[in-house]
Amino acid sequence: MTDLLAQGLTGSTGVLGVIGDPISHSLSPAMQNAALRSLGKDYIYVPLAVSPLHVEEAIAGMRALGIKGLNVTIPHKVAVMPYLDEIDPMAQLIGAVNTINNDGGRLTGYNTDGYGFLRSLKEEAGWDPQGQRVTVIGAGGAARAIGFQLALSRIESLVLANRTEERARYLANDIHHRTSCPTVACSLDGLTSYLGTTDILINTTSLGMHPEIDTMPPVDCECLPTTALVCDIVYHPNETQLIQKAAACGLATLPGLGMLAYQGAAALEIWLQVEAPVEVMKATLRRQLFGDE
Ligand SMILES: NC(=O)c1ccc[n+]([C@@H]2O[C@H](COP(=O)([O-])OP(=O)(O)OC[C@H]3O[C@@H](n4cnc5c(N)ncnc54)[C@H](OP(=O)(O)O)[C@@H]3O)[C@@H](O)[C@H]2O)c1
Repeated sequence: MTDLLAQGLTGSTGVLGVIGDPISHSLSPAMQNAALRSLGKDYIYVPLAVSPLHVEEAIAGMRALGIKGLNVTIPHKVAVMPYLDEIDPMAQLIGAVNTINNDGGRLTGYNTDGYGFLRSLKEEAGWDPQGQRVTVIGAGGAARAIGFQLALSRIESLVLANRTEERARYLANDIHHRTSCPTVACSLDGLTSYLGTTDILINTTSLGMHPEIDTMPPVDCECLPTTALVCDIVYHPNETQLIQKAAACGLATLPGLGMLAYQGAAALEIWLQVEAPVEVMKATLRRQLFGDE
């Protein structure tokens, strides 16, 4: 009760949230509530555990309860799609939704993951992907979002390297056919032969993620051009082993926390049509993850 009063909930407080299963580990409630407080918005953002058996009812509930916006996380990003009124073209291409906006009962699905990476790349690393040769390691959901986003950002070429080569080949074909971006696939063993012609390398696998912090994808940073940028979307730890090795080789690096903040910022901007306080969101994430003051 005291907590609710401290947050100033009233009869007109709007509701936002995140659905997933499990959801208790999600960093989004802390990040989004800090942003809402900083903006002085009369909204609250709540974690909602939804079993895969109840996705349809959860979306009907969003409509019935007038929930203004939801983030969608694992395992519901594809399952929610049939229950929405509209899917934004980028989410359509990616084939997954991580944000739903409720506009007077009309529900539209978006995917802000690729946009979050692109904004981090531009604003934090100062890189424009146009004309760059990009290598993405991984072929899962995050690789799909980043791959399509970059393919539409007029990069010169895209290499997809994945443990399961078949999955990389499928995604490479999809991206090439739908965006015309020159895209090839290889296994992790085949990755080395592309490193010398890579301008931007992005790890989208979970290799290096806490608690397996001693693992990394098979990248010899010495094989990359000295001008290359190495990105890792794993955000815990802040500096993965890949990022540390790249920095030790004198390469420019981009850790994953920015993408996490910017994909959340994009969702907030869709729901409330305001500029999100990105620095507040990043600081909250750092506090949650690393205990930074
Ligand atoms: N910074 C951000 O905002 C952000 C956003 C989204 C995701 N992420 C992070 O990105 C990572 C991937 O997320 P996702 O949603 O794309 O997951 P996903 O769909 O499950 O895909 C996982 C990818 O990692 C590969 N992989 C997993 N274990 C591996 C191993 N031991 N060796 C080699 N490859 C391995 C998989 O290869 P196979 O195809 O061979 O299985 C696949 O390519 C997670 O760590 C997640 O936390 C960060």
